[in-house]
Amino acid sequence: MEIIIQPTPEAVSLIAANIIANLVRDKPDCVLGLATGNTPILMYRELVRMHREAGLDFSRVTTFNLDEYVGLSPKHPQSYHAFMHEHLFQHLNVPRQNIHIPNGLAADIAAECAQFELAIRGAGGIDLQVLGIGTDGHIGFNERSSSLASRTRIKTLTEQTRHDNARYFGRPEDVPMHVITMGVGTIMEARQVLLLAFGENKAQVMAAAVEGPISAMNPASILQMHPVAKALLDEPAAAQLTLGDYYRWVYAHKPDWQQFVRGR
Ligand code: GLP
Repeated sequence: MEIIIQPTPEAVSLIAANIIANLVRDKPDCVLGLATGNTPILMYRELVRMHREAGLDFSRVTTFNLDEYVGLSPKHPQSYHAFMHEHLFQHLNVPRQNIHIPNGLAADIAAECAQFELAIRGAGGIDLQVLGIGTDGHIGFNERSSSLASRTRIKTLTEQTRHDNARYFGRPEDVPMHVITMGVGTIMEARQVLLLAFGENKAQVMAAAVEGPISAMNPASILQMHPVAKALLDEPAAAQLTLGDYYRWVYAHKPDWQQFVRGR
């Protein structure tokens, strides 16, 4: 895995947005896998700025979101539909029909999940998947002990995740218990993965994900097996990495042709 450590979330988000912008310019009909949570918000803001100020064109881009709460309508303010509309889609020109987010109100959840997988395949697979990470290592809503080969399916949230996400809901008991999430196997099929993490409360789990053993007890650790995965961290999130100095040194000596921001 390539580890990129930057002083601030803003600096990390700029690099991540540039990686996506380069992909969109190189492959205008690319397929993006997108994530919710606080972590990608600054990156989305930067992409919106590039769209407004530099004409970055999303008119042929297709998107798939990682997950959605079961039982919340797309109009519910805490739904991931609403989150994506607020932070990204209302500001970009991604055609409505190219946006895919699991439907948490589907009458037949299993059919909805199978259809979601088919749609990803029909779009030619995901070119780049954006990920945040839960404090326990979950990616999407693949909680600890999720099969590392899992596909899109319904999952039951842990109390820890419901507690972490309660800040968005009025009362902790309002956080849904069930979700639809892309599987770990689905995520691993993306051609490129960007895992973003900010803040000291992600330091322990990121050290385990990047340097620890691969285990279903830290689903993000499977990204060590991905051929093109990058972990982008701010300094507090990188604080517990054993090889932090090495990763900083590698990034500082990246050849010009490999730069994400400079040169391209
Ligand atoms: C939720 C989402 C994840 C996200 C995680 C971390 O559980 N399903 O995709 O990575 O929250 O959120 P945050 O970025 O707010 O720390």
